[in-house]
Amino acid sequence: MIHFNPDTRTFNLVLQSSVYAMQVDAKGRLLHLAWGPRPVAVDELLSGRLRPTLSDHASFEFQTRRDEILTFGDTTNHEVTLKANFTALPDPLPAGDAPHLPIRDVRLRYVSHEIVTDAQPGFAPTHGLPTQNGEPRETLRIKLDDPVQPLVVTLCYRLTPAQDIIERWLELENRGDEPIEIEQLFFAALHLPNGTTELTSVSGAWAQEFQTQRERLPIGRRIIEHRSVQTGHAANPFFMLNWPGQAWEAHGTVYFGALAYSGSWQLGFEQLPSSDVRVHGGYHPTDFGLTLAAGAQYKTLALICGVCDEGWGGVSRRLHAFTCERILPVPNLAVADVPAAPPTVLAGLSLNEETTAVEESGTVKRPATAAGRPASAHYRPILYNSWEATYFGITEQNQVELAQKAAAVGVEMFCLDDGWFGGRRFDVAGLGDWTVSPDVFPNGLEPLIAEVNRLGMDFGLWVEPEMVNPDSDLYRAHPEWVLHFPGRPRTEARCQLILDFGREEVVAYIFNALDSLLAQYNIAFIKWDMNRNVSEPGSVVGKAIWQAHVAGVYGIIDRLRAKYPHVAFESCAGGGGRVDLGILGRTDQVWTSDNTDALDRLRIQEGFSLAYPVRVMTAWVTHEKNHQTGRFHELSTRFDVAMRGALGIGASLNGLDDAELKEYASYIAFYKRIRHIVQGGDLYRLERLEEAGASTILYVLPDGSEAVYSVVVHSHKLGQFRRMVPLRGLIPSATYEILDRFEKVRLTATGYELMVQGMGGDEDCRSGYSCTLHIRRLEAGD
Ligand code: GLA
Repeated sequence: MIHFNPDTRTFNLVLQSSVYAMQVDAKGRLLHLAWGPRPVAVDELLSGRLRPTLSDHASFEFQTRRDEILTFGDTTNHEVTLKANFTALPDPLPAGDAPHLPIRDVRLRYVSHEIVTDAQPGFAPTHGLPTQNGEPRETLRIKLDDPVQPLVVTLCYRLTPAQDIIERWLELENRGDEPIEIEQLFFAALHLPNGTTELTSVSGAWAQEFQTQRERLPIGRRIIEHRSVQTGHAANPFFMLNWPGQAWEAHGTVYFGALAYSGSWQLGFEQLPSSDVRVHGGYHPTDFGLTLAAGAQYKTLALICGVCDEGWGGVSRRLHAFTCERILPVPNLAVADVPAAPPTVLAGLSLNEETTAVEESGTVKRPATAAGRPASAHYRPILYNSWEATYFGITEQNQVELAQKAAAVGVEMFCLDDGWFGGRRFDVAGLGDWTVSPDVFPNGLEPLIAEVNRLGMDFGLWVEPEMVNPDSDLYRAHPEWVLHFPGRPRTEARCQLILDFGREEVVAYIFNALDSLLAQYNIAFIKWDMNRNVSEPGSVVGKAIWQAHVAGVYGIIDRLRAKYPHVAFESCAGGGGRVDLGILGRTDQVWTSDNTDALDRLRIQEGFSLAYPVRVMTAWVTHEKNHQTGRFHELSTRFDVAMRGALGIGASLNGLDDAELKEYASYIAFYKRIRHIVQGGDLYRLERLEEAGASTILYVLPDGSEAVYSVVVHSHKLGQFRRMVPLRGLIPSATYEILDRFEKVRLTATGYELMVQGMGGDEDCRSGYSCTLHIRRLEAGD
């Protein structure tokens, strides 16, 4: 609910369990009043009064006023949201003023406000696919203008009350005749209570994404950022902030935020000497430039933020629900029927206990029927990806063999990875030439796809559309189509350069290449990869390339999704280098990390789950001896870790014997029984790695009827006992049975027992010990 009191000119944004308040002061400035969990009922809240906090101090610290938008000129000692240059002198020029230009000062005053239900931030998806929850949401638009210069700025606040989330963005308009240069632009500034200085964020690197870090903010600024045209491995644009030591998984007031943007971004956390805490998030200021032409309008993307009183776990569950309900597109599976196939029998072995259902009509609907769930739930199908099995050594024959084995163990989608196109026999050539290589597939892709479909699986294809190898037909024809500066070197990384998506003809070329593939082949899944950071960002659109590149990527995916609404997309950038709430608006899942070592994955996945729902977290079971780390892990550890997300298989099934394949089939059948809980339940981190050396998580369906308990020991110390871990989210009075993967009942207990006494106390404490259990409510009479 959005409430405006015209007497006090106060705005109250009232959400499920939090409130955000602002006020227009006597000078017309929009000031922040408060943001936090709300202790009172709505009526009391609206009749209550809030005082403006620190204002216009007459001291060295005179810039502590909590403007909802901080503008350069007015604020110079601290970080600002907006910095603009005006090239026109005021007319008349006040007496005594010198005619310096440009004028680098913006003052914004309240003009009007409105509440609308159809507002969208910049770069909103245009694919037209629905989200799970399409209920309209209220957006407060507060218009401010500069009394002297022709700049109008509208501050937007879209409310999702159920998750205590506010999406904030800015809209700019130049009402003058001269262009206005925008030198710095964040999407919003957040004012937090003084002393909210314990920051949780993730850092990382290729193969080590999402490493959780917790620290105290210094006085001054702490920046997390990435300067490229994807989100990055080294940091991810989300944060949590709380009073030091006052929050934990299950309790405490925690502020949070995330950028819905996949480009060059920055989140700045600023603690003033006064102990005021501000967060600034949006476009990275380095090399930023935006010319607002006369009459032009511009809209930023959103900084998504919120606060809750239920600890870090409460933040995660809010972000997960928000992402699943409001951000992820729902693919139109009704058009995804594939030709029928007989249930897979391999060398006399019928491996897949729950093989894909074949309908009499002669089509296989999946994942709807395969998962036994309604299509609207769109749980992610079980994927086979052949990258680690065959790398660049692909042939039609070895892919067909892999597909047959994959189908036999119960896989639902087969994805052919890198190396199928152009001259791409290794990573030195071929990117840019998106036609099937006759050297690898002399008969085209049709025979492989036909076989995959006959086996009852969907077919997926890897692409890396933003890139070109200099050794490619595309580059030979258009060397000018890459990011570069005239006369300057072009630095290659992984032997590739980045296409200039500032050029319309380049975006059109890539769209057409992918469109042709989707039109020609029965493709149900695209793995969209991106394997290098930017250098020499020279483009025909100048500094605007930072946003233009992202707009190009978003636009191509949106257009493809509109045209092929049944096709699902995975975002990949050398692993988890492009994971954020912007790309998730047009993709169904993400490749979490190129590191598939089960124990490394535990930490990566725990950090990932702080902000992102595990439904989108692709997790493969790979080889016993891990290809990245060289460590050995049992199959149980590999499956128990991968079953924590959207399960995939990446191991070479061609190298496994029948007994091992049967084990795979058994795990996959188990995953199909618990998938709706893992992908559709609320996540509780019961034991975190940093405290316990083990990770125990619980997924619980919102109605408390079913849960999945998963424990994996990372580095328990010999001689210590594993503790009992109280469960959460169950119905105390209900009786539950706890089943293992063979559907054997291990325990029957009430929700009360499970939540008070807990589970665990495992005897086996060695590193790599793991267990996944299905908890199911018994109906009366069972
Ligand atoms: C990236 C991806 C991998 C694989 C390779 C192919 O590293 O993250 O999964 O697709 O590219 O070159």
